[in-house]
Parts: sequence; C-alpha cells; structure tokens
Amino acid sequence: MNDRKVVLITGANRGLGYETALKFAREGHIAYTSMRDMKKAGNIMTVAERENLALIPIELDITDERSIRACADKIIEREKRIDILVNNAGIGYLGFITDASEEDMKSHFETNVYGTLKVTKHIARHMIGRRSGTIVNISGANGIAAFPGMGLYSACKSAIESLSETFCLELGYFGIKVRDIIPGTVNTGMENRPYDFYKGLNEADPAWEGLPGKLKAFYADNIRKAVMPEKAAVIIYKAAMRKSGRLRYSCLGQTGMLLMIRKILSDRWFMAFFKKLVFPYKQNKAE
Ligand SMILES: NC(=O)c1ccc[n+]([C@@H]2O[C@H](COP(=O)([O-])OP(=O)(O)OC[C@H]3O[C@@H](n4cnc5c(N)ncnc54)[C@H](OP(=O)(O)O)[C@@H]3O)[C@@H](O)[C@H]2O)c1
Repeated sequence: MNDRKVVLITGANRGLGYETALKFAREGHIAYTSMRDMKKAGNIMTVAERENLALIPIELDITDERSIRACADKIIEREKRIDILVNNAGIGYLGFITDASEEDMKSHFETNVYGTLKVTKHIARHMIGRRSGTIVNISGANGIAAFPGMGLYSACKSAIESLSETFCLELGYFGIKVRDIIPGTVNTGMENRPYDFYKGLNEADPAWEGLPGKLKAFYADNIRKAVMPEKAAVIIYKAAMRKSGRLRYSCLGQTGMLLMIRKILSDRWFMAFFKKLVFPYKQNKAE
C-alpha cells in the first residue's frame, strides 16, 4: 500500500475508538489501538490475528503525561512517525449540574478536555517537526447544543469545539489538518461501561418533580434508536483521509439538522424549540 498511515487512536479498546481502529487497519493502515488497561486487549489481538491486520494494542492513559510520552516515543521509535491522531477517549454520564460532585466535575474535565489537550500538545509537536499530520477530535452534538442532564459533558464537548478551531488555525500554519467530528447518539453499549451512565439522575429526589425519570426514558430511547459505531467509524475514517476538507463533520443521527437549526434560529427560538420539541419538559408558564 502506497500511502500507509500510522494512526494513533485513543480509548480504542471498545466503542467508537475500537471500530475506528478496526476501520483504519482494514483499509491497510497501521492502527495503534491505545487503551489505559492492556488487560482489555484480548479481543483486539484475536481480530488482528484472525484478519492479519496491523492493529497494535498500546498502553495510553490520556490523563497521565508519562503514559502519553511513553506511548508516543514507542510508536515514533518503531514507525518513525505518527500521521494521524484520533482523540476519541472520553467519559460522560448523566446528572444535573446542581447535583454534580467535585469528583464528577474533575473527572469529566480531566479526561475529556485536559486529557485531549495533553495528548494533542505532545503529538502536535512531533507533527510540527514533520510539517505534516492530521488531528481528529471526536466532539459531539452536545458541543453544539447543551443537553439537559448532560451539563458537564456538554461543557467539555463545547471546549473541544473551541479547541478544534484553535488547533485548525495554529497547526494549520504548519500544514497539519484538523477534523472535528460531531456524532449524534451512537450505540456503543452505554450499559456496558465501567460506570453507570445514569448515575447522576436521582429518580427518588422529589425536588426534580419526576424529570430524572423522563430524561432517563428519553436518553434510553435515543440510544435504542442510535446508529451502530461501525457506521460512525466510516465517517471518521473518510474525514481523516480527505486531503483537503472542512473542519467540522456532522456524523449521523440528527446532528446535521441540529447544526443547521442552531445557525438559523436566534438563541431565544432555539431554546424554545429545544424545550418544546426535543425534551419532555413541563412548560413553565412564568417563562
Ligand atoms: N456514544 C455516543 O453516543 C457518542 C456521541 C457523541 C460523541 N461521543 C464521543 O465519542 C468518543 C467515544 O465514545 P464511546 O461511546 O465509544 O465511549 P465508550 O464506549 O465509553 O469508550 C470510551 C473509551 O475511552 C476510554 N477512556 C476513558 N478514559 C480514558 C483515559 N483516561 N485514558 C485512555 N482511555 C480512556 C475508555 O477506556 P476504559 O474501557 O478503560 O474505560 C474507552 O475505551 C467519546 O469521546 C465520546 O464523548 C460518543
């Protein structure tokens, strides 16, 4: 293969990251399938052997500077380069902003924002040296519009939106391409995560007048109807491989429509639309 890329995908032991790594490897590229716990590499090794793919598990905790350095050094020593970085690793669970603990706040920002920043800083330095490379950030519809019950996650994804623009402007100066992928809901098995996706919604709390239960039902229904990660991985792959291309790629679900509506409507109308049509809010007559 002529244009064989060396790709590093973060948080790739499962979900969207795993499917993205698989897509790159199946297209003939070298996919460094990173994960913070190497005990989770079993499935990847089996697929790599069975299909004879360059799907290489490597340890990387995106919140740990030493781990980032060790991972990048190992790949560069072996391959002499990293062509594409896919910033996929992330966490997110439901919960109201007023109920969020300090631990909830820290974990969201440490992984989704600081982690992504730390990895990008390190790999971008290497790419600047080569005057070449592509950085792909996985943002989310929540970065375009804050969703109720997902305030911390939405704030993190908004930060990724802003950082993607900055990377595009600063790193673009050196010929480095930046892609911001905005998936809608993707069914990556939220119920199989190491934490409870619904943990912050307390249905027993009378203060919320039943809203936690309604939101739980709304999100569960959304997940049931969501696309599978293989489909999203194809969009990520195509966006990463395009020679010239735009910054933002809406990725399945209703994200394209959401982006358009957000642009067209004023804030007032957008929020009214969101409250009335999208979420099962009790309308507050005082508003
Ligand atoms: N699924 C969706 O509906 C959706 C929609 C929009 C955007 N996204 C974004 O797409 C990305 C992937 O989502 P997903 O649904 O595939 O999530 P997922 O199934 O929960 O997978 C997340 C991955 O990130 C890893 N991770 C978490 N913290 C890490 C850390 N400190 N260092 C390294 N890896 C870490 C996890 O590893 P462990 O297994 O060790 O926990 C896991 O491999 C995330 O950025 C998410 O925000 C998802």
